[in-house]
Amino acid sequence: MSRITLDDDARHALLQAARAARLNAYAPYSKFLVGAAVLDEQGQVHAGCNVENAAYPQGVCAEAAALCAMVLSGGRRANALLVVGDGPAWVTPCGGCRQKLREFAAPDTPVLVADGQGVQRWFTLDELLPHGFGPEHLKPE
Ligand code: THU
Repeated sequence: MSRITLDDDARHALLQAARAARLNAYAPYSKFLVGAAVLDEQGQVHAGCNVENAAYPQGVCAEAAALCAMVLSGGRRANALLVVGDGPAWVTPCGGCRQKLREFAAPDTPVLVADGQGVQRWFTLDELLPHGFGPEHLKPE
């Protein structure tokens, strides 16, 4: 469980933004719509949806799109991320997206997983990506 607490307003804003983004997902191949939202260090929320491609591996996950939107807007820290999908199991970020989040987040950054009913679980990034490789590894000693 994350030690970071998100206030209700922030959690609600993330959920609303991710849900709205999910409705715009472009997923003609999988038909699996995903939305995500990131809270940056200024308190701004940035959303993304999955964008698939006829060349399947070129598709973009919702979390990656949300992180790109954050960077485009000038955000440089992800203080929380929420992902929303729908299906028999909760949608947790894929391995690649865990690594992408690692660049902008801390071990205890909360990752919220939601479905059609609302937020179902909180993880920390460290739970999802233990011993991850990050920017600090590239710093000279
Ligand atoms: N997908 C995401 O956007 N985020 C996830 O966390 C899991 C999977 C997308 C990728 C693809 O467009 C579709 O869901 C099915 O894998």
